[in-house]
Order: sequence, then structure tokens, then C-alpha cells
Amino acid sequence: MADRRKLAAGNWKMNGTAAALSEVSALAGLRRGTTCEILLCPPTTLIERMARATEGTNIAVGGQDCHWAENGAHTGDVSAEMLKDAGATYVITGHSERRADHGESDEMVRRKTEAAWAAGLAVILCVGETLSEREASNTIDIIKGQLAGSVPDQATGHNLVVAYEPVWAIGTGKVPSTDQIGEVHDVIRVQLEKRFGPGVGRSVRLLYGGSVKPANAAEIFAVENVDGALVGGASLKAPDFDGIIKALDA
Ligand code: PGA
Repeated sequence: MADRRKLAAGNWKMNGTAAALSEVSALAGLRRGTTCEILLCPPTTLIERMARATEGTNIAVGGQDCHWAENGAHTGDVSAEMLKDAGATYVITGHSERRADHGESDEMVRRKTEAAWAAGLAVILCVGETLSEREASNTIDIIKGQLAGSVPDQATGHNLVVAYEPVWAIGTGKVPSTDQIGEVHDVIRVQLEKRFGPGVGRSVRLLYGGSVKPANAAEIFAVENVDGALVGGASLKAPDFDGIIKALDA
């Protein structure tokens, strides 16, 4: 099996002002010895300050979205180069909240991912089915379609991480069974191997996301092809995120 470094990624969504930076120093103190990669994706307004606060620690900083254009007349948007300039090394693309709230299509997610790579950022690209898609037994087709439509051709194990986030599990406290997680992660792995060859396909890290908590993390991380987690709510408080990283380290 490819040697994939575990990744614990926190997505703060639209949460946090300067006061929340105390959670970052607390986390840095708690997880000094970890062998996992730790990433926090705060709101854009905090990226630069968080990047400064994490200097010399093992915590990396990322954005939650970027525009596909390098610059120009896109009021309110942020380019990948701007995120990089502020201190980000990663960006999330295709999060279901962006797909739903901003009508982002696979094509848009693909273009955003390409822009991020052009700026030198690694990407956590999200895929996942809604509850009605799962209930209609369409999960696997949806995931395959999202991968085919939103992952660009230049993917490598360094520039791409794929996060499987069932929409119905995000922020709801509902988590798929370990069999359901394993089934989708295996499909993602096989799709990546088919398209990019076994070398690249096996080196891309796959995260599970959706209501990951310290209490359920160990069980989820034991699933084959789960290389870490994309964590929303439980990444906002250092002790909670610490508990998840501890489970990943074990
Ligand atoms: P949650 O969010 O951990 O709060 O469910 C996960 C995500 O949306 O990335």
C-alpha cells in the first residue's frame, strides 16, 4: 500500500474572528509530537493572522474556496494566488455548501482546482451525495460523476486530496456506517487508479468528512482507504480537534 501521510483538516466555515486564534495556539501546544499533517482552513479574513500564529508549528493553513480566474472584475471573490500570498498552502474546492449555496457545478470546481494548482496550492476536493440520492441508490454514480467532472487531468498525490462528505452527514450528527464509508472510499480509490494509473491513484489521500467527532473518529479511521478527516464543527475547539488527531495518530 502506498505510504500516505495521515491528514487532519479543519474547516472553520463562516466561524471565527481574531479571538478564535487562541484555539490555534492551544492546538499547537497539544499536538507537538504528531506524525499527522494538520491543516486549518479558517475564513479568508483570518488566513494571514493564522499563518503568522502557526509559524514554526506543524499546523498548515488553507482557504475554503477560490475563484477560477487569476484576477479581475469578480466582486467579493478571492483568487488562489491571494490565498497563497496570505500564507495558505491548501484550498478546499467543491464543498457541498458551495455547490448548494453558490450553484457550483463540477465544471466550476474543476476550474477552481486548476487555478489553485497554478498558484501552487494543494487542493482538498469534496464529493458527496445528498440524502435523496442515497435513498435512490444513486450514491456511487453521483460520486463517479463528480470525480470525472471536477478532478482535473493533472492530479498527483501532492496536489490533490479527495474528501468524501455525504451531504446528509454534514453538521447533522448523522454518520454513515463504516461499511458505507468503506464502499465509497474504495470506489474513489479505484476511479483514481483507473484514470491516473496505480502510482498516482494510490498516493492521493482520501478523507472522510461529516460529523466526525473524537468519539467516532477511531472507528472511521480504521476503515480501509480513509487517510484522515475533513472536520467542521469539531475543528473549532482545540480539545475536540486534538481528540480527532489523537485517534488518527494511534
Ligand atoms: P461537520 O462538517 O464536521 O461539522 O459535519 C464537515 C464539513 O462540512 O467539512
